[in-house]
Amino acid sequence: MTLTLSLPTPAATEELAQALAHTRPAEAVVYLYGTLGAGKSTLARALLRALGIEGVIRSPTYTLLERYPLPGEEGSNNLEAWHLDLYRIVTAEELDFLGLDQGGVSLWLVEWPQHGETALPAPDLVITLKLLHQGRQAQLEAKSVIGQAWLAQITASVSR
Ligand SMILES: Nc1ncnc2c1ncn2[C@@H]1O[C@H](COP(=O)(O)OP(=O)(O)OP(=O)(O)O)[C@@H](O)[C@H]1O
Ligand SMILES: [Mg+2]
Repeated sequence: MTLTLSLPTPAATEELAQALAHTRPAEAVVYLYGTLGAGKSTLARALLRALGIEGVIRSPTYTLLERYPLPGEEGSNNLEAWHLDLYRIVTAEELDFLGLDQGGVSLWLVEWPQHGETALPAPDLVITLKLLHQGRQAQLEAKSVIGQAWLAQITASVSR
């Protein structure tokens, strides 16, 4: 299942982020593909904001990983959203020190996942951003049962 959207402006990217946030499953892994400047961080940042994260949302360009406690519902575990940018990574072993297998992650947003694939959990949703003459295009692909259910909801949400 695939959904292709045109994102003529950053505001359209914002809307997609809102749709992703409002339909988000309890646990999900999202890979973000696209060339430099394609809009991966813009989408990730808007999604984190839409999930209620306040304060500074830094790009993980240098730190590789930025972690955010998710404002949970009453009684829920304090799970986190992890935003990664693996652009600088050459081999997946370089990620060992991050302790990516420690769990407690509710949402993974991974830029440049192809640089660290073997150290990452498999994706539920793959989003590929492309530069258009003006604006961007987003292609969303479901990669798991969870991803399929999510994408169906996103499709319903953006076509309303
Ligand atoms: N839908 C859009 N329409 C027009 N401009 C956009 C859109 N989405 C993002 N941009 C702009 O694209 C620029 C680069 O975006 P961003 O930093 O998100 O790219 P990136 O894919 O994360 O790049 P990198 O690989 O370097 O991390 C920003 O200036 C942003 O405002
Ligand atoms: Mg980026």
